[in-house]
Amino acid sequence: MVLTIISRCGYVNGKFETIRAFSPAINQSSERESLRTLIEGSILSLCHQLFTKGEVKLLTSEGRIYLDHAASTPIHPRVREAILLSLDRVGNPQSIHRDGEDMRERVEQARIQVARLIGCKPREIVFTGGGTEAINLALFGLFGQPQAHIVSTSVEHAAVLAPLRRLEQEGIRLSLVGVSGTGQVKTQQIVERLSSDTRLVSVQVANNETGVIHDLAELGRILKERGILFHLDAVQGAGLIDLNVDTLSVDLLSLSAQKMYGPQGVGALYVRQGVLLTPIIWGGRHERGRRAGTENTPGIVGFGMACELARLEREERFTHLSSLTEYLESLLLTRIPGVSISGEKVPRLPGLTHIVLPGVYGEGVVQSLDRAGFSLSHGAACSAAGSEVSHVLLAMGFSEQEAAGGLRISAGIWTKESELNKFVERLVPEVERLRNLRRRTGD
Ligand SMILES: Cc1ncc(COP(=O)(O)O)c(C=O)c1O
Repeated sequence: MVLTIISRCGYVNGKFETIRAFSPAINQSSERESLRTLIEGSILSLCHQLFTKGEVKLLTSEGRIYLDHAASTPIHPRVREAILLSLDRVGNPQSIHRDGEDMRERVEQARIQVARLIGCKPREIVFTGGGTEAINLALFGLFGQPQAHIVSTSVEHAAVLAPLRRLEQEGIRLSLVGVSGTGQVKTQQIVERLSSDTRLVSVQVANNETGVIHDLAELGRILKERGILFHLDAVQGAGLIDLNVDTLSVDLLSLSAQKMYGPQGVGALYVRQGVLLTPIIWGGRHERGRRAGTENTPGIVGFGMACELARLEREERFTHLSSLTEYLESLLLTRIPGVSISGEKVPRLPGLTHIVLPGVYGEGVVQSLDRAGFSLSHGAACSAAGSEVSHVLLAMGFSEQEAAGGLRISAGIWTKESELNKFVERLVPEVERLRNLRRRTGD
């Protein structure tokens, strides 16, 4: 009998171990499928058990403390295993032979898993190369003709603002609504900007710098009544906030796997049935003609698993992250004079704390804490690279100088209180040192 290796490895007791499973090469497709499902299921459940017992170690931050989950989360061991299982296979999901069919089934299974997370039909999901591409597809895909108006907010991620500015150059009328001092977008302010030619409203679920969650319960209903399309940038918040496309009355919704313990460079756009999009990538009939190019099957499979886990563990994750946030913020408020928590009094994503530290440059704190073994961030990962003053903080009414003292600390589902203690122990004297330095140099 011919044996086929169908699975591989994991980190067991800190060592890289190979877990092998063999399946007979059965020609009969249904038997082959049920056997594959059985074996893969047992491997995944074995990995999960080992991880739960603390016998599987994550490869993130060896000796370091990672507090930048809003930029990217580590891969969940079950996601990793699902990716490895599909990496072992060959075949183009578009091919009509058995290998192609096998890959296609994996992609379609992942589509079901993503759809379940947001309560839509699998056919309404378009896989993309990340959140930015999903948003670009939503914004550019709708606007073939320039005679229209879009409403968005001044605190959106660059993945939204940059395409909107581009569309503005092409003749689209753009209105950006501001936020209150707490960073929240008010539905009423959006509604006041709607006009007869408004075709789309695009808003984020939660802000990537402050974690502030926008209260959008009413907005979708109002837009639906007026026949205006609604795009939700749900890249931050998906997997933590309940995002049902019908409850929210959204027509388009963008997701990114890398914020949900899935792989980087994979995302999805939900497109409500009946909403017509012009592709932004041409070259084939993939994704029902909405996004050309061979599917990133391993990435998509990992994304599917990440969505499945997020759906099953959402409440548990929310509770754990909320208690970490409460713990961290009480430490920060008692230990650092003058610190303020952005959006302190409004609902925020659990796990994400944004603080403003007067008298220091957030960037300097990030660099010195990096040398001490901590990963955190000054602002959004993309603007951090360009060291710009945060447009989000400016929109909230902070001065440029105040905004320069911003720091984003984002915990994840495996962050421990002991790690937060170590972080605060290191942050407190560092802030003191940098403040003294700045006083002395007058900079
Ligand atoms: C709110 C928000 N939207 C969009 C994006 C872009 O997603 P991606 O990095 O997957 O392209 C990000 C990434 O940080 C984000 O935080």
